[in-house]
Amino acid sequence: MGGELLRYGDRVTSIDSTLLAGFVDECRAAATGDDAVVRIVAILEQLIVDRDGLAEATGPLPDDIPAMGIDETLFEDEHVTVMVIATPPDIAQPPHDHRMTAVIGVFDGQEDQRFFVNAPSGLRELTGRSIATGEVMSLGRKTIHAISATGPQACRAVHVYLGPLATVERSIFHPDTLVEEPFSVEAYEAYCRPLNNTVRLRSVGLPEARA
Ligand SMILES: [Fe+2]
Repeated sequence: MGGELLRYGDRVTSIDSTLLAGFVDECRAAATGDDAVVRIVAILEQLIVDRDGLAEATGPLPDDIPAMGIDETLFEDEHVTVMVIATPPDIAQPPHDHRMTAVIGVFDGQEDQRFFVNAPSGLRELTGRSIATGEVMSLGRKTIHAISATGPQACRAVHVYLGPLATVERSIFHPDTLVEEPFSVEAYEAYCRPLNNTVRLRSVGLPEARA
């Protein structure tokens, strides 16, 4: 960590890392080529094997991670967005979509995924699963999900999106009413909730985590 702000494309981040800069370059090349998802899954699997390198690249987490987490955008253009995301424990973040393919790789902790489908009768929850340290999972263009971290540990993951995540029009769902509305960072922050027992039970009946 050099402490300087680096500029990747038109984004600025405090993460100064040769490792992650190289990963961004690989994602950019893969995103515009054939079999983009397959290639990004493969290079993300390679990246998160290097847990020590990622820990050094991203630095220590603060003790008080905000409920909505900490998002560091390493790069974004019309083809690909690369983010490092920290998710605090015991917070249920709100359901939302991306309108583009996403690939998630966890390098510390466990990221629990709740999935939903937007049925004619409203938003309906499906079976969820967890992404353990060292695992990669891809989400389809229409996926609606909500993430949380299994306490007491925060989760850290690299998220790659095949498009411009910050500028696309997408949706968020109110956590109590499940009513759909336009996505905004302000709504995402306001709609974080304590991870109650109902959510935890849904998240626990999942495939065994693979370390
Ligand atoms: Fe998401």
